[in-house]
Amino acid sequence: MLAFNDILEDARAQIELAADLAALDRVRVAFLGKKGVVTELMKKMAELTPAERPAYGQTVNDLKSAIQEQLQIQEEALQAEALSKTLAAQRLDVSLPGRGLGLGSLHPLTQTRESIENFFRGLGFDIVDGPEIEDEYHNFDALNIPAHHPARASHDTFYLENGFLLRTHTSPVQIRYMKTHPLPLRMIAPGRVYRCDNDMTHTPMFHQVEGLLIDDHSTFADLKGLLQLFLEDFFGQALVLRLRPSYFPFTEPSAEVDIQCVKCKGQGCRICSQSGWLEILGCGMVHPQVLMNLGIDSEKFSGFAFGMGIDRLTMLRYEIPDLRALFENDLRFLKQF
Ligand code: DAH
Repeated sequence: MLAFNDILEDARAQIELAADLAALDRVRVAFLGKKGVVTELMKKMAELTPAERPAYGQTVNDLKSAIQEQLQIQEEALQAEALSKTLAAQRLDVSLPGRGLGLGSLHPLTQTRESIENFFRGLGFDIVDGPEIEDEYHNFDALNIPAHHPARASHDTFYLENGFLLRTHTSPVQIRYMKTHPLPLRMIAPGRVYRCDNDMTHTPMFHQVEGLLIDDHSTFADLKGLLQLFLEDFFGQALVLRLRPSYFPFTEPSAEVDIQCVKCKGQGCRICSQSGWLEILGCGMVHPQVLMNLGIDSEKFSGFAFGMGIDRLTMLRYEIPDLRALFENDLRFLKQF
């Protein structure tokens, strides 16, 4: 029986030495496998007399159980060790700072449009949309710019088929709105406009916002006061305004509004081309002919209109030197706003 104890000791030693589950399995095969030490011992039963067999069988079975038990203990130990190794390797430090959420931001043009909308909405103006594909009637004729009017040529119009065109300004929204809304009315219409023009300061598509107010008592002074309030709100500072007489076919009288340069306060700098003034918008009292085109009695009603470039306002507000930066969608640029 000594041999059995030696086998058990040998198995114990090998099991203890098995450094991982694969090594342990090799030990299992060596002792309990088809050609393993214990299996060979079992086969020897055949050579024994029937009287010897029970005791022999019992001893081999005990040996087998003892080895199995050792294997089991070592397997559990190795498994626990492997698990704690993985846990240590995959450990999560929940106290580490997060990775941050890379938040997006609104395009500077959108920010400008929204702040214009917020100001006028606060004064009861309706914010409206109009079609970018217009017809000549709304874009020109109804605005008192007939076919051979010189102003029409200066619009560099993209013409489409069947008398349609890409609107060259947001003014046609005035016409559409007056047609469909009762008086008195007030609205602004921001949106895209198109002109066949492309250089440092012009892109074929740009943005304007139109304003219109019609009632039975509005004056040029109201217009000036409104624009002063708006521009001071927009630029966040007190401003000096200058109105220069101008000409638009759909307003009479007409004016162009300049503000004293927001950067140099009138001293003269690069932004205002040393003039001390920035041209901001066109405006005027709605031409009686435009009202008449819409069947509005120009003896009873009057109003004013204004139009300005959202892109230019954005460039001035954020000191962006090149208009094209607004349309290139370069994230390095956009992330600054
Ligand atoms: N539509 C003009 C343009 O695109 C801008 C403008 C000037 C609009 C005077 C107005 C206005 O409503 O009264 O150049």
